[in-house]
Order: sequence, then structure tokens, then C-alpha cells
Amino acid sequence: MIKLITTAFAALALAGNLYAASGNVLLAQSEANVSDQASLQRGAALYFNYCAGCHSIKYMRYGRIAEDLQLSEEQLMSNLVFTDAKPGDLIKIAMPEESASWFGAAPPDLSLTARSRGSDWIYSYLKAFYVDPARPLGWNNTVFANASMPNVLWERQGIQTLAPAHEDDHGGHGKRLEDQFELASPGSRSAAEFDQDARDITNFLTYVGEPAALQRERYGVWVFLYLLVLTGVLYVLKHEYWRDVH
Ligand code: HEC
Repeated sequence: MIKLITTAFAALALAGNLYAASGNVLLAQSEANVSDQASLQRGAALYFNYCAGCHSIKYMRYGRIAEDLQLSEEQLMSNLVFTDAKPGDLIKIAMPEESASWFGAAPPDLSLTARSRGSDWIYSYLKAFYVDPARPLGWNNTVFANASMPNVLWERQGIQTLAPAHEDDHGGHGKRLEDQFELASPGSRSAAEFDQDARDITNFLTYVGEPAALQRERYGVWVFLYLLVLTGVLYVLKHEYWRDVH
């Protein structure tokens, strides 16, 4: 029986891996961890600096982010938010609707992207931009081919070009993300630092996709303590009840 269950789990895990390898790229692991507050704060800062101009997260309010990330509203509104929004507002973008036509595709709302695409996908996508003169904005992406988003983080990451194909590549299929590019010109961040940037943004978007996860963790501790105390009380009670029987 146990063997059967382990086999079933192994099969599931394998299916998961195959899924992660879909497209023709193996996704890099984001290691996003929503209980890492410092990472969430850095991610929020990067999001508001580099992404919020085009992408809304319209199911989220500024005030909620301040509360969950343990920032004061003052810190959030004056350091990160560049519009005249108020803390109770939902996070929309300042750009007019017709902006869609500037890029060929409208920048989608990112509230639920971590859920629909997965954290590893976002992390890999942010690392997978390369120069492609054939594209209208000069950028392409191996995780999301022909995406109409430019590499907004190029000053930090540097400029990547596609690495030349090798014979054992099978046409690029199944090539690890790290092996796909060459750094044509360095950015302000080292490779490891840029990985951390991408991880922090991914982490922030993962939190945005399911903000209740943070609260669940906090409540979880109290629920656990409650159950522990209850067990103690019930144990004493049991002794009390059975004393006369024995
Ligand atoms: C200049 C505008 C612009 C900025 C700034 C920008 N994006 Fe985008 N983004 C786009 C557009 C346009 C698309 C749609 C691409 C397509 O569908 O071809 C997109 C698509 C995406 C997607 C894919 C969503 C999906 O499910 O299809 C993700 C994830 C994303 N952007 C994340 C980010 C992050 C994170 C930042 C900040 C680091 C950012 N974007 C900054 C314009 C922008």
C-alpha cells in the first residue's frame, strides 16, 4: 500500500517537472518565500519603481501592503508611490487605456499572475530577456516568446544576447535558463544580485496573489498554541473524571 502511495507521489512529482519544462525552457527555481519580510519590502520597492507604471495590481490596496509588509503608510506612500493615490485606493496604473496600442498588447493586471503562471515562471521570465533587433521594441524573451514587454530591468541586469546554439542543444529544447544567454554588457548589479532582484519581485507578486497566506501563518501559531493549551486542559479533566472510577 505504502509502495503504491509513494509511486503515485513520484508520478505526480514527475508530471510537475514535465510541466515546469513546458515551452522549450526549463524554468529556474524562484525560491520565493513570502515569510521573508525584507525580500517582500525590496520586491515592493522594485515593483513600484519598475512595474507599476504599466501593470496594475487592482485587487490590492496600498494600505494593505503597508500593513502586511510592516511599513508605515507614510513610508509606503512617500517613498514608493509616485501617483497621488491615497492609502485606501486600489492599485491601478496612471497610464491611459489606449496605451495597449503602444506595445501591441495591453500590460495585464498582475494580481493573479503568480497563481496562473506560477512563481518560477515569473522569476524565469524576468531573467529571460534578450536583445532581438527583429522585434518592434528590440527585446525578446525565451520564456514568453515575442512578448511585447521591453526588458525594463536592463540597467540592473545588463544586456543579454542569445548564446550561440551547440550541436547537443536539440535546437534549444530543454536548455537550462542560465545557459541560454551571454552578457553582452554588464548592468549595475552582479548576476547574483540581479537574481535576488528577480526573486524579490517574484516574492512580492506571489504575496500579492495570495495575501491571506501571510495572515494564515500568523494565525497558525495562535491556533497551534490554543490546541496545545486545550490538550493540557482536557488531559487534566480526564484525570479528574476517571479518578472515582479507578
Ligand atoms: C513599459 C510597460 C511595461 C513595464 C514597465 C513592465 N511591463 Fe510587464 N508587460 C508589459 C506588456 C505590454 C506585457 C504583455 C506582453 C504580451 O502579452 O505580449 C507585459 C507582460 C508581463 C507579464 C506576463 C503576464 C502574463 O501572464 O502574460 C509579466 C509577469 C510582467 N509583464 C511582469 C512585469 C514586471 C515584474 C515588471 C517590472 C519589473 C514589468 N512587467 C514592467 C509592459 C510592461
